[in-house]
Amino acid sequence: MNILILGSGGREYSIGLAISKEYEEHNITFCPGNGATDKIGSNINIKDYKELASWAKNNNIGLTIVGPEQPLVDGVVDIFKQEGLTIFGPSAKAAQLEGSKVYMKNILKKYNIPTAAFIETASKEEAYNFIDSMSKTPIVVKADGLCAGKGVIIALSKEEAKEAVSGMLSGESFGDAGAKVVVEEYLDGYELSIFAVCDGDNYVVLPAAQDHKRVGDGDTGPNTGGMGAYAPTPLVNDDIYKKVEDRVIKPTLEGMKKEGAPFEGVLFIGVMVVDNEPIILEYNVRFGDPECEILMPLLETPVSELFYKGATKQLDTLDIKIKKQFGVAVVMASGNYPYGSSAPAEIIVDDIHDEVLKENSHISYAGVTKDGDTLLATGGRVLLCVGFGDDIQTARDRAYALCGQVHFAGKKCRTDIAYQALK
Ligand code: AMP
Ligand code: GLY
Repeated sequence: MNILILGSGGREYSIGLAISKEYEEHNITFCPGNGATDKIGSNINIKDYKELASWAKNNNIGLTIVGPEQPLVDGVVDIFKQEGLTIFGPSAKAAQLEGSKVYMKNILKKYNIPTAAFIETASKEEAYNFIDSMSKTPIVVKADGLCAGKGVIIALSKEEAKEAVSGMLSGESFGDAGAKVVVEEYLDGYELSIFAVCDGDNYVVLPAAQDHKRVGDGDTGPNTGGMGAYAPTPLVNDDIYKKVEDRVIKPTLEGMKKEGAPFEGVLFIGVMVVDNEPIILEYNVRFGDPECEILMPLLETPVSELFYKGATKQLDTLDIKIKKQFGVAVVMASGNYPYGSSAPAEIIVDDIHDEVLKENSHISYAGVTKDGDTLLATGGRVLLCVGFGDDIQTARDRAYALCGQVHFAGKKCRTDIAYQALK
């Protein structure tokens, strides 16, 4: 089949890599891809979605997979479907679950899905009154719209929470994305990333993962897009999975149908587990990055089949198979990440002579550009070293062994990925 993958990160690379290893041969095109995806398939760069849909028709694309949220929120799925193309992802309307935190929180409330107590408002006075009525700090303030992962402030005092509200509502902090805010109670627990692949009616739940959002070891420093992930996490059990299915996934799919926006695509459920109860922090409408980079290789079911069935309402016929292994992904980032950009740096990967390491690890490339035959680190998150094993420690050791084989000026990574599982 001819498959088109939208996006340019490690997430899209990992989807392409998994598909390229399937038994059946596929032709993969990335739009726009990165400096390494052209080894898996080819790269094109068409920015206009209508033009891209025509290209897809002319090139017999049988399945399109959308990696990032922005094209989904912008309606790429609707445009492709109007052209009769098969595309896996939510409509623009359903993508509001990620595009607007106000929309998401109101859906959670309407369908009785457990989430932090909150107020959503465009009024400073209302937000301030709610903050004054709160009995505990920290207080969480969120900009309504997409802010590239930066729109959440954990305020340690009521004054700080009010400053955050004021900065958002004035447009100073996040422009239009802050025209409305969500103020909510702080949840103290541990975080999980749970992914449900949905076709509007049916769903398949993948093994729960944990991301590491802060830049520094021990979860210190500013938030990033994610510095590493592992799965399956032992911090989840059948009871939590069942609660997430019964209290979260099923009512969300039913609710979205009632809203006239059936949910097709990846429902990324950001969960905080508090006293064994899963409480929803947020929804995203796509795979997490770096979570995707470990989940794709852990699938025994062909990735293209999972997404194709997701896109054609056939998930009820899929018997999902997951490898009995653990995966750990360590992000190698540029020196100035997440504060600013860094000078391009040549990436050198040593030959790996250890056969066991070679077989149980790989690199997922993200912020890289090609200059002739040279691969350059040009993005914040440059690449991920991914290791696999029969237990988390072994998978992690392999991921870090691979990190040792990768060189570029200024490289940095966390040294404690999966620490919550290994405590
Ligand atoms: P979000 O974009 O809503 O996932 O928020 C980004 C991060 O902020 C989450 O991954 C959590 O670590 C943290 N966060 C968000 N909401 C809350 C909350 N109500 N309580 C505690 N931490 C939160
Ligand atoms: N790993 C978090 C995200 O993709 O939003």
